[in-house]
Amino acid sequence: MKKVYLVYISLSGNTESFVKRLTTFLQFQSDLQVEQVHVKDLVKQDIPFYELDGPFVAFLPTYLEGGNGVDNGDVEILTNPLGDFIAYGGNVDKCLGIIGSGNRNFNNQYCLTAKQYAERFGFPVLANFELRGLQNDIERVGKKIMELV
Ligand SMILES: Cc1cc2nc3c(=O)[nH]c(=O)nc-3n(C[C@H](O)[C@H](O)[C@H](O)COP(=O)(O)O)c2cc1C
Repeated sequence: MKKVYLVYISLSGNTESFVKRLTTFLQFQSDLQVEQVHVKDLVKQDIPFYELDGPFVAFLPTYLEGGNGVDNGDVEILTNPLGDFIAYGGNVDKCLGIIGSGNRNFNNQYCLTAKQYAERFGFPVLANFELRGLQNDIERVGKKIMELV
């Protein structure tokens, strides 16, 4: 059975809700084995980062310090541990891509950090969704993952 990891960080629960609903979707619609890794929990429980033994998709909500995303406002806050986990050991080579989330009220900064990770690590932005995401977002992202793995 093929396995995919969903690696995420969630501060206020939106991304966590999306990843849980996406996991249920994938379990019903595919024969993938889905494993979730919440990087915030690793940090909170003092669990050292480790190398994954298979492919993963990363989920990154956007938390930027103020600004407008054009000439300022591109300093990442709170979500940096996800980048550290991706950079750990050979993990980056197993990353199929990143899914950004955010709030459209942030205009140019909407999902900006996911784009910055894609540039920094050299993997694609696979999709974006707003806040907790709607059912059609779950289906869109789920189908994309099924195609990739
Ligand atoms: C302090 C703060 C800064 C934020 N900055 C951005 C931003 O620059 N761009 C964006 O698209 N969303 C921004 N958001 C919205 C979050 O990305 C959005 O609420 C997301 O769903 C949070 O995910 P989480 O609940 O999994 O932590 C910000 C939210 C907060 C609280």
